[in-house]
Amino acid sequence: MQEEIINIKNEALSQIIEAKSKNELEDIRVIYLGRQGRLNKLTKEIKNLGKDERKKAGFLINESKNTILRLLVTQRNKLQESAREWFDPTTPGIKPKRGRLHLVTQAIEEIKSVFEKIGFVRVRYPEVEWDFLAFGSLNFTKDHPARDNWETFFIDTQAHPTYGPMLLTPHTSSGQVREMWRVKIPPIRMINIAKCFRRQSDVSHVPMFHQFEGLVIDREISMVHLKGTLDYFARNFFGEDRKTRLRPYNFPFTEPSFEVDINCGLCKGKGCKFCKAGWHELGGAGMVHPTVLKNGGIDPRKYTGFAFGWGVERVMMMKSGLEIPDIRLLYSSDLRFLKQF
Ligand code: DAH
Repeated sequence: MQEEIINIKNEALSQIIEAKSKNELEDIRVIYLGRQGRLNKLTKEIKNLGKDERKKAGFLINESKNTILRLLVTQRNKLQESAREWFDPTTPGIKPKRGRLHLVTQAIEEIKSVFEKIGFVRVRYPEVEWDFLAFGSLNFTKDHPARDNWETFFIDTQAHPTYGPMLLTPHTSSGQVREMWRVKIPPIRMINIAKCFRRQSDVSHVPMFHQFEGLVIDREISMVHLKGTLDYFARNFFGEDRKTRLRPYNFPFTEPSFEVDINCGLCKGKGCKFCKAGWHELGGAGMVHPTVLKNGGIDPRKYTGFAFGWGVERVMMMKSGLEIPDIRLLYSSDLRFLKQF
């Protein structure tokens, strides 16, 4: 039997060396080492041998099994290695696409940080709001003709018994009285940056846009503070050589009221093709109307304040000199456009 064992072992080893695939190796393993394999068959016959023979044969079978198994493993590893694809670690990787903040979000962040440096706190108030906060508390009576300028979307739902119908905020001024209710006792230095909605859509208007609203209330706040704050913003947002001017205007919630202009970045106020008269319109501002202070629970005999409200998209475009032919592009989700910024 010993000779037979050695023959089987040598046969197995030479087959393993010649095997070309893992499947072939597996077949060989089953033939020689499997439960019904050739070596196990011999094991079953051992009991028929004489005592001495039996011992030697048992030992030889075990040794053969181990040798065959070891070679199987070595050979399998070799095959695996040569099958592994060649890899060049110096080839450039696949870069995942990089996202970025929307142009308007970038502008909001910048506006916020300019105002935070002089102690303003950014707040946000509901963008779906009661008529009273957007208009009533801001001194617009029920049939005030100025309401028409705010082309408001009303929500078709039950009106509040005191605050009236529900609407989408047409301006960030709707945060003024809410801020007074929140702080209760001045000082207030609020910068409210939020979405606004108006029934408008053309090359220079979108139904959803953004405004930033400043509100400062304290003892002895005067127009000097207003002008200083506006000039500070002009210098820090647009550039050192920029300044503002105030033009008398009318808003129900401020007295006096102004429209704010900024000197043209190209001609610095002399007048050029780009600006015509040397100035660009920025937005509204004024001294908070005593009635508005009262509606916010603040005593107008003790406190005064100023406010301003401008469009984020407008200052962003003015700063960058971007001439976007159609402002609706900003919100069109067209990556070819957005990727540029
Ligand atoms: N809310 C006004 C608008 O949307 C802008 C405005 C004007 C805001 C004067 C103010 C202000 O705070 O004092 O047109």
